[in-house]
Amino acid sequence: MLRKRRLGRTGLMVTELGLGAMDTPQSDQGADTLRAALDAGIDFVDTARDYEGSEFLIGQVTRERGGKQFHVASKTFRHSMDGSQRDVDRSLSILGVPSIDLYQLHDISTEDAWRAATGDEGALEGLRIAQYRGLVGHIGLSTHSLDVGREAVLSGMFDTVMLEYSAFYPHSAPLIELAAEHDVGVIVMRPLGGSGRTSVIRAAVEEDRAGALTPANLLRYVLSHSGASVVIPGARYPSRIHDNVAVASHYTPMDAAEQRELERQAAALY
Ligand SMILES: NC(=O)c1ccc[n+]([C@@H]2O[C@H](COP(=O)([O-])OP(=O)(O)OC[C@H]3O[C@@H](n4cnc5c(N)ncnc54)[C@H](OP(=O)(O)O)[C@@H]3O)[C@@H](O)[C@H]2O)c1
Repeated sequence: MLRKRRLGRTGLMVTELGLGAMDTPQSDQGADTLRAALDAGIDFVDTARDYEGSEFLIGQVTRERGGKQFHVASKTFRHSMDGSQRDVDRSLSILGVPSIDLYQLHDISTEDAWRAATGDEGALEGLRIAQYRGLVGHIGLSTHSLDVGREAVLSGMFDTVMLEYSAFYPHSAPLIELAAEHDVGVIVMRPLGGSGRTSVIRAAVEEDRAGALTPANLLRYVLSHSGASVVIPGARYPSRIHDNVAVASHYTPMDAAEQRELERQAAALY
């Protein structure tokens, strides 16, 4: 049984294991992967306007189920007020839903992008208008910069932040704590270190030389941070969903020594 956590000030209760649907459409088992996730009780799916085919796939599976019984988070890469509103409209029609639970500014990772998207007539203003019109429930930001992430948390303008965090990239831990203090929901992207690393790790597991550095332990590492609201491993195959659900349903949190050891093995992968 998957446990739920509160997604910060959105107040939404979401399964701590979500699905990152960026690459899900890039396989002939993409629809089955999404179906497997929903059947297993995963109720948070992350997508974006710019993830090719991802919103379309989610819309297709939503329609075949007669409606949406899970939370969807999408994103806009646009930095202008008009651009973000156009993206929301496009997402709504492709997803086939009347409103989207969470809409995020996508990859705001430089000061210039932050200023453009949050300034006058920027994308944030467009999302606020969409929210006022009832088209968007909550507003978030995704970033690859710890500085921008910190600015977003402290600004009070965002309900959630999406950050990279994993045994390969432990540096976000203090920012996750800061977000929790400010009641900002934290969505953890790339929790397994990304597809390049995971394919190397899968080969090592098959050859019985992976040590502690397994997908299961990488997932446990991230789930062990109580400030993370939802962890969204990417998946293109149903078997990944089954494996991740098995871990998230039964894990015991890692202690600090186990975490440091996993970070050490992660740093030595390449
Ligand atoms: N906002 C941003 O700028 C941004 C950037 C990057 C990612 N993201 C979000 O974060 C999500 C996850 O990131 P990501 O996909 O780059 O990295 P990730 O979740 O760390 O890794 C995904 C890789 O892990 C593999 N995998 C998943 N579960 C596995 C398991 N149990 N055993 C073995 N391999 C497993 C997947 O394999 P298969 O694909 O072969 O199934 C895929 O190759 C994305 O889908 C997206 O929603 C956001």
